[in-house]
Amino acid sequence: MVRPFAAKGKKRKKAERYDRDDDGEESTASAKKAMVENEPDEQPENEAAEENFHELEGIPIVPKDPKSDSKAGVIFVLERASLEVAKVGKNYQLLNSDDHSNFLRRNNRNPGDYRPDILHQALLAIFDSRIAKAGRLKVVYVKTEKGLLIEIKPYVRLPRTQKRFYGVMLQLLQKLSITAAGKREKLFRVIKNPVTQYLPSNSRKMGFSHSSDKLVKVRTYLDAVEDDVDLVFVVGAMAHGKIETGYTDDLLAISEYPLSASCCIADICKDLADKWNVG
Ligand SMILES: C[S@@+](CC[C@H](N)C(=O)[O-])C[C@H]1O[C@@H](n2cnc3c(N)ncnc32)[C@H](O)[C@@H]1O
Repeated sequence: MVRPFAAKGKKRKKAERYDRDDDGEESTASAKKAMVENEPDEQPENEAAEENFHELEGIPIVPKDPKSDSKAGVIFVLERASLEVAKVGKNYQLLNSDDHSNFLRRNNRNPGDYRPDILHQALLAIFDSRIAKAGRLKVVYVKTEKGLLIEIKPYVRLPRTQKRFYGVMLQLLQKLSITAAGKREKLFRVIKNPVTQYLPSNSRKMGFSHSSDKLVKVRTYLDAVEDDVDLVFVVGAMAHGKIETGYTDDLLAISEYPLSASCCIADICKDLADKWNVG
Protein backbone atom coordinates (compact mmCIF):
# COMPACT_ATOMS: atom_id res chain seq x y z
CA MET A 1 0.00 0.00 0.00
CA VAL A 2 1.34 3.37 -0.88
CA ARG A 3 0.43 6.11 1.56
CA PRO A 4 0.95 9.80 1.04
CA PHE A 5 4.06 11.38 2.47
CA ALA A 6 3.53 14.81 3.99
CA ALA A 7 6.63 16.60 5.13
CA LYS A 8 6.16 20.16 6.25
CA GLY A 9 7.45 22.96 4.09
CA LYS A 10 8.36 23.68 0.53
CA LYS A 11 11.32 22.98 -1.65
CA ARG A 12 14.13 25.17 -0.41
CA LYS A 13 17.16 26.22 -2.35
CA LYS A 14 18.58 29.16 -0.48
CA ALA A 15 21.08 29.00 2.33
CA GLU A 16 19.10 31.42 4.49
CA ARG A 17 16.26 28.93 4.73
CA TYR A 18 18.49 26.93 7.08
CA ASP A 19 18.20 29.73 9.62
CA ARG A 20 14.62 28.87 10.45
CA ASP A 21 14.01 27.25 13.84
CA ASP A 22 10.71 25.43 13.55
CA ASP A 23 9.86 24.78 17.15
CA GLY A 24 12.64 26.36 19.13
CA GLU A 25 13.79 23.02 20.47
CA GLU A 26 17.27 23.23 19.02
CA SER A 27 19.29 26.27 18.14
CA THR A 28 20.15 27.21 14.60
CA ALA A 29 23.80 26.95 15.52
CA SER A 30 23.31 23.33 16.50
CA ALA A 31 21.43 22.54 13.33
CA LYS A 32 24.22 24.02 11.28
CA LYS A 33 26.50 21.41 12.80
CA ALA A 34 24.97 19.11 10.23
CA MET A 35 26.41 21.16 7.38
CA VAL A 36 29.98 21.23 6.20
CA GLU A 37 31.57 24.64 6.49
CA ASN A 38 33.26 24.57 3.10
CA GLU A 39 30.67 24.67 0.34
CA PRO A 40 32.32 25.26 -3.01
CA ASP A 41 30.00 25.92 -5.91
CA GLU A 42 30.37 22.97 -8.21
CA GLN A 43 28.27 20.69 -10.33
CA PRO A 44 26.56 17.66 -8.75
CA GLU A 45 28.50 14.48 -9.26
CA ASN A 46 25.56 12.61 -10.64
CA GLU A 47 21.91 12.95 -11.39
CA ALA A 48 20.80 10.66 -8.58
CA ALA A 49 22.40 12.93 -6.01
CA GLU A 50 20.73 15.98 -7.47
CA GLU A 51 17.34 14.28 -7.44
CA ASN A 52 17.77 13.75 -3.69
CA PHE A 53 16.75 17.33 -3.27
CA HIS A 54 13.07 17.22 -3.89
CA GLU A 55 9.93 18.13 -2.11
CA LEU A 56 8.69 15.30 0.05
CA GLU A 57 4.98 14.89 0.38
CA GLY A 58 4.90 13.37 3.85
CA ILE A 59 5.66 10.60 6.27
CA PRO A 60 2.92 8.07 6.82
CA ILE A 61 2.44 6.43 10.20
CA VAL A 62 1.50 2.96 11.31
CA PRO A 63 -1.17 2.55 14.01
CA LYS A 64 -0.01 2.28 17.62
CA ASP A 65 -1.01 -0.76 19.68
CA PRO A 66 -2.59 0.66 22.89
CA LYS A 67 -2.02 -2.63 24.77
CA SER A 68 1.74 -2.24 24.46
CA ASP A 69 1.87 0.83 26.73
CA SER A 70 1.61 -1.17 29.96
CA LYS A 71 4.55 -3.44 29.13
CA ALA A 72 8.28 -2.88 29.36
CA GLY A 73 9.63 -1.48 26.14
CA VAL A 74 12.74 -0.91 24.12
CA ILE A 75 14.64 2.24 23.29
CA PHE A 76 17.44 2.31 20.73
CA VAL A 77 20.15 4.95 20.69
CA LEU A 78 22.16 4.98 17.48
CA GLU A 79 25.44 6.76 18.12
CA ARG A 80 27.76 8.60 15.72
CA ALA A 81 25.46 8.54 12.70
CA SER A 82 26.77 10.21 9.56
CA LEU A 83 24.22 12.90 8.69
CA GLU A 84 25.76 15.97 7.13
CA VAL A 85 24.43 18.39 4.56
CA ALA A 86 26.41 20.48 2.08
CA LYS A 87 25.73 22.49 -1.03
CA VAL A 88 26.98 20.39 -3.91
CA GLY A 89 26.50 22.20 -7.18
CA LYS A 90 23.24 24.11 -6.98
CA ASN A 91 21.52 22.09 -4.30
CA TYR A 92 21.91 21.03 -0.71
CA GLN A 93 22.43 17.30 -0.39
CA LEU A 94 22.96 14.69 2.27
CA LEU A 95 26.63 13.78 1.94
CA ASN A 96 27.38 10.15 1.18
CA SER A 97 30.34 8.24 -0.13
CA ASP A 98 28.49 6.91 -3.20
CA ASP A 99 27.44 10.25 -4.66
CA HIS A 100 29.99 12.71 -3.28
CA SER A 101 33.39 11.03 -3.12
CA ASN A 102 35.08 13.65 -5.35
CA PHE A 103 33.45 16.52 -3.49
CA LEU A 104 34.52 15.06 -0.14
CA ARG A 105 38.11 14.43 -1.25
CA ARG A 106 38.37 17.97 -2.62
CA ASN A 107 37.29 19.20 0.82
CA ASN A 108 39.85 17.01 2.58
CA ARG A 109 37.22 14.64 3.93
CA ASN A 110 37.43 10.88 3.92
CA PRO A 111 34.51 9.54 1.83
CA GLY A 112 34.55 6.38 3.97
CA ASP A 113 33.30 8.43 6.91
CA TYR A 114 30.15 9.56 5.07
CA ARG A 115 27.86 6.53 5.37
CA PRO A 116 24.23 7.50 6.06
CA ASP A 117 23.34 4.13 4.51
CA ILE A 118 24.53 2.50 7.79
CA LEU A 119 21.93 4.52 9.68
CA HIS A 120 19.22 3.62 7.17
CA GLN A 121 19.96 -0.11 7.44
CA ALA A 122 20.11 0.09 11.24
CA LEU A 123 16.74 1.84 11.38
CA LEU A 124 15.18 -0.71 9.01
CA ALA A 125 16.46 -3.51 11.26
CA ILE A 126 14.77 -1.82 14.24
CA PHE A 127 11.49 -0.89 12.56
CA ASP A 128 11.16 -4.23 10.74
CA SER A 129 11.68 -6.24 13.94
CA ARG A 130 8.98 -8.25 15.69
CA ILE A 131 9.61 -6.06 18.75
CA ALA A 132 8.58 -2.95 16.79
CA LYS A 133 5.64 -4.68 15.12
CA ALA A 134 4.37 -5.78 18.54
CA GLY A 135 4.45 -2.16 19.74
CA ARG A 136 7.27 -2.70 22.23
CA LEU A 137 9.55 -0.10 20.62
CA LYS A 138 9.17 3.15 22.58
CA VAL A 139 11.40 5.53 20.68
CA VAL A 140 14.64 5.72 18.70
CA TYR A 141 17.28 8.40 19.27
CA VAL A 142 19.96 9.14 16.71
CA LYS A 143 23.07 11.04 17.68
CA THR A 144 25.03 12.37 14.72
CA GLU A 145 28.81 12.64 14.41
CA LYS A 146 28.31 16.40 14.66
CA GLY A 147 26.42 16.08 17.94
CA LEU A 148 22.82 16.63 16.82
CA LEU A 149 20.23 14.54 18.63
CA ILE A 150 17.20 13.29 16.68
CA GLU A 151 14.08 11.63 18.05
CA ILE A 152 12.13 9.17 15.88
CA LYS A 153 8.66 8.06 16.94
CA PRO A 154 8.10 4.28 17.01
CA TYR A 155 5.12 4.24 14.65
CA VAL A 156 6.77 6.03 11.75
CA ARG A 157 6.72 4.17 8.44
CA LEU A 158 10.35 4.48 7.49
CA PRO A 159 11.29 5.20 3.86
CA ARG A 160 12.45 1.88 2.45
CA THR A 161 14.65 3.09 -0.36
CA GLN A 162 17.95 4.74 0.35
CA LYS A 163 17.25 7.64 -1.97
CA ARG A 164 13.98 8.44 -0.27
CA PHE A 165 15.54 8.06 3.18
CA TYR A 166 18.28 10.52 2.24
CA GLY A 167 15.60 12.93 1.05
CA VAL A 168 13.78 12.70 4.39
CA MET A 169 17.00 13.19 6.37
CA LEU A 170 17.88 16.20 4.24
CA GLN A 171 14.47 17.72 4.97
CA LEU A 172 14.85 16.96 8.66
CA LEU A 173 18.23 18.67 8.91
CA GLN A 174 16.85 21.71 7.10
CA LYS A 175 13.54 22.02 8.94
CA LEU A 176 14.42 20.31 12.26
CA SER A 177 11.19 18.30 12.26
CA ILE A 178 8.94 16.27 9.97
CA THR A 179 5.27 15.76 10.72
CA ALA A 180 2.85 12.97 9.87
CA ALA A 181 0.72 13.40 6.77
CA GLY A 182 -2.32 15.50 7.68
CA LYS A 183 -1.36 15.64 11.37
CA ARG A 184 0.60 17.92 13.65
CA GLU A 185 2.62 15.22 15.34
CA LYS A 186 6.33 15.35 14.72
CA LEU A 187 7.58 11.93 13.70
CA PHE A 188 11.19 13.02 13.33
CA ARG A 189 12.56 15.99 15.23
CA VAL A 190 15.83 17.46 16.39
CA ILE A 191 15.83 17.70 20.18
CA LYS A 192 18.13 19.03 22.86
CA ASN A 193 21.05 17.04 24.19
CA PRO A 194 21.84 15.08 26.25
CA VAL A 195 19.97 11.90 25.41
CA THR A 196 20.17 10.76 29.03
CA GLN A 197 17.40 13.17 30.09
CA TYR A 198 14.92 11.16 27.97
CA LEU A 199 15.89 7.69 29.17
CA PRO A 200 13.67 6.08 31.84
CA SER A 201 15.34 5.85 35.25
CA ASN A 202 14.12 2.28 35.66
CA SER A 203 15.92 0.96 32.60
CA ARG A 204 18.89 -1.24 31.76
CA LYS A 205 21.21 0.62 29.44
CA MET A 206 23.48 -1.54 27.31
CA GLY A 207 26.18 -0.35 24.94
CA PHE A 208 27.48 -2.64 22.18
CA SER A 209 30.98 -2.89 20.82
CA HIS A 210 33.00 -5.59 19.17
CA SER A 211 36.00 -4.47 21.21
CA SER A 212 34.33 -5.00 24.58
CA ASP A 213 35.94 -7.61 26.84
CA LYS A 214 32.49 -8.70 28.00
CA LEU A 215 31.46 -11.24 25.38
CA VAL A 216 27.91 -12.40 26.09
CA LYS A 217 25.13 -14.40 24.53
CA VAL A 218 22.35 -11.84 24.13
CA ARG A 219 19.57 -14.20 25.21
CA THR A 220 21.42 -15.33 28.35
CA TYR A 221 22.21 -11.72 29.25
CA LEU A 222 18.62 -10.55 28.68
CA ASP A 223 17.15 -13.46 30.63
CA ALA A 224 18.86 -12.08 33.73
CA VAL A 225 17.06 -8.72 33.37
CA GLU A 226 13.64 -8.37 35.06
CA ASP A 227 10.65 -8.35 32.68
CA ASP A 228 9.31 -4.98 33.88
CA VAL A 229 12.49 -3.02 33.15
CA ASP A 230 12.75 -0.92 29.99
CA LEU A 231 15.75 -1.79 27.85
CA VAL A 232 18.01 0.78 26.22
CA PHE A 233 20.31 -0.51 23.49
CA VAL A 234 23.13 1.76 22.35
CA VAL A 235 24.64 0.76 18.99
CA GLY A 236 27.07 2.59 16.72
CA ALA A 237 25.85 3.78 13.31
CA MET A 238 29.31 4.66 12.01
CA ALA A 239 31.71 2.78 9.75
CA HIS A 240 34.76 2.76 12.02
CA GLY A 241 35.65 3.29 15.64
CA LYS A 242 33.83 2.69 18.87
CA ILE A 243 30.86 4.22 20.63
CA GLU A 244 31.81 6.41 23.59
CA THR A 245 29.05 6.41 26.15
CA GLY A 246 29.31 7.34 29.76
CA TYR A 247 25.70 6.48 30.40
CA THR A 248 25.45 2.72 29.83
CA ASP A 249 25.42 0.13 32.61
CA ASP A 250 27.37 -2.33 30.49
CA LEU A 251 29.42 -2.47 27.30
CA LEU A 252 28.81 -5.80 25.60
CA ALA A 253 30.26 -7.79 22.72
CA ILE A 254 27.73 -10.22 21.28
CA SER A 255 30.02 -12.02 18.85
CA GLU A 256 33.70 -12.54 18.36
CA TYR A 257 33.25 -11.07 14.87
CA PRO A 258 32.77 -7.41 13.98
CA LEU A 259 29.15 -7.13 12.84
CA SER A 260 27.32 -4.49 10.90
CA ALA A 261 25.08 -2.30 13.03
CA SER A 262 22.00 -3.76 11.32
CA CYS A 263 23.11 -7.34 11.97
CA CYS A 264 23.87 -6.51 15.62
CA ILE A 265 20.40 -4.94 16.01
CA ALA A 266 18.67 -7.84 14.27
CA ASP A 267 20.37 -10.30 16.68
CA ILE A 268 19.33 -8.24 19.71
CA CYS A 269 15.73 -7.90 18.52
CA LYS A 270 15.38 -11.58 17.71
CA ASP A 271 16.61 -12.72 21.12
CA LEU A 272 14.47 -10.14 22.88
CA ALA A 273 11.37 -11.16 20.91
CA ASP A 274 12.05 -14.78 21.93
CA LYS A 275 12.46 -13.79 25.58
CA TRP A 276 9.22 -11.81 25.53
CA ASN A 277 7.38 -14.44 23.48
CA VAL A 278 6.64 -11.97 20.73
CA GLY A 279 5.26 -13.56 17.57
C1 LIG B 1 29.94 -1.22 11.82
S1 LIG B 1 30.03 -1.41 13.55
C2 LIG B 1 31.18 -0.18 13.97
C3 LIG B 1 32.54 -0.62 13.70
C4 LIG B 1 33.45 -0.82 14.90
N1 LIG B 1 34.70 -1.31 14.40
C5 LIG B 1 32.92 -1.75 15.97
O1 LIG B 1 32.88 -2.97 15.76
O2 LIG B 1 32.50 -1.29 17.03
C6 LIG B 1 28.55 -0.74 14.11
C7 LIG B 1 28.15 -1.09 15.52
O3 LIG B 1 27.68 -2.42 15.61
C8 LIG B 1 27.91 -2.89 16.93
N2 LIG B 1 28.72 -4.11 16.85
C9 LIG B 1 29.38 -4.59 15.78
N3 LIG B 1 29.96 -5.76 16.06
C10 LIG B 1 29.66 -6.04 17.36
C11 LIG B 1 29.95 -7.12 18.23
N4 LIG B 1 30.68 -8.17 17.85
N5 LIG B 1 29.46 -7.06 19.48
C12 LIG B 1 28.70 -6.03 19.90
N6 LIG B 1 28.39 -4.99 19.10
C13 LIG B 1 28.86 -4.99 17.85
C14 LIG B 1 28.62 -1.81 17.70
O4 LIG B 1 27.68 -1.04 18.43
C15 LIG B 1 29.21 -0.98 16.57
O5 LIG B 1 29.44 0.35 16.97
